[in-house]
Amino acid sequence: MLESSSVLLFIVFVLIFVLLLFTVLIRKNAAAVALIWHEIIREKITNFIMNQSKEQRILDFVLQNAVRGDPCSVVDTIDKYCSQKEWAMNVGNEKGIILDKTVEEVNPSVALELGTYCGYSAVRIAQLLKPGARLLTVEFNPKFAAIAKQMIEFAGVHDKVKILEGPSEEIIPQLKKKYEVDTLDFVFLDHWKDRYTPDTILIQECNLLRKGSVLLADNVIVPGAPEFLNYIRNNPRFQCTNYPSHLEYMKVKDAMEKAVFLG
Ligand SMILES: C[S@@+](CC[C@H](N)C(=O)[O-])C[C@H]1O[C@@H](n2cnc3c(N)ncnc32)[C@H](O)[C@@H]1O
Repeated sequence: MLESSSVLLFIVFVLIFVLLLFTVLIRKNAAAVALIWHEIIREKITNFIMNQSKEQRILDFVLQNAVRGDPCSVVDTIDKYCSQKEWAMNVGNEKGIILDKTVEEVNPSVALELGTYCGYSAVRIAQLLKPGARLLTVEFNPKFAAIAKQMIEFAGVHDKVKILEGPSEEIIPQLKKKYEVDTLDFVFLDHWKDRYTPDTILIQECNLLRKGSVLLADNVIVPGAPEFLNYIRNNPRFQCTNYPSHLEYMKVKDAMEKAVFLG
């Protein structure tokens, strides 16, 4: 009798311990757990059931609910879909406001975006460009590039935006000759995080920065770009500012890093 009650007690203790361990792990990795749920499990199931990609669903929702030729309405409609229906890796509205302010401050003639995805940030940047200014946006996934093309056309900013399809490391060295770029006034880094540092170095090696060129990097906390932060903050040629914020469509902490090239 005594033996069976101590076994029971032991099992209860083990269960409580496992439960506590899970709670701590989930709390510590809330962002990772949420992203795995949204990006892998839920999305794959929905894609399978609907036989359609999430990015196509975002575009369809915009085509049905936004106003053609109105970039604000396109941005708002994407935010509505991604905050209410399915999470997606657009910069989102909270960090989008930081992006807008930076673009307004720089007032670029030539802007470069690394990572187009569905064209959300491209539409956001393009609507703030002065007449004659242009945005070059780089995307290596042809399916995303095709969605972004339709999104940008629907928003009515296609005359300001050119999608360059291919890996950033191949496109950057072509910017001067093939795309007639002298220097870049503004660069938005929002592609895979392990490319932030090598592409920043490549951009400098290709002489694409001028004194006062501004780089803005998204997601420096989540998924995180520690190597980039270490590189850029310890580089005397850049002056950095951090903008604490939250991961798109979530309460998880994230930040953007601005780096002004000092020449
Ligand atoms: C976070 S999403 C971009 C979101 C977009 N800037 C927005 O806010 O609407 C990152 C995108 O970068 C693309 N990407 C990642 N690494 C790349 C690379 N080296 N060259 C080109 N595109 C890349 C991915 O396919 C993905 O579509």
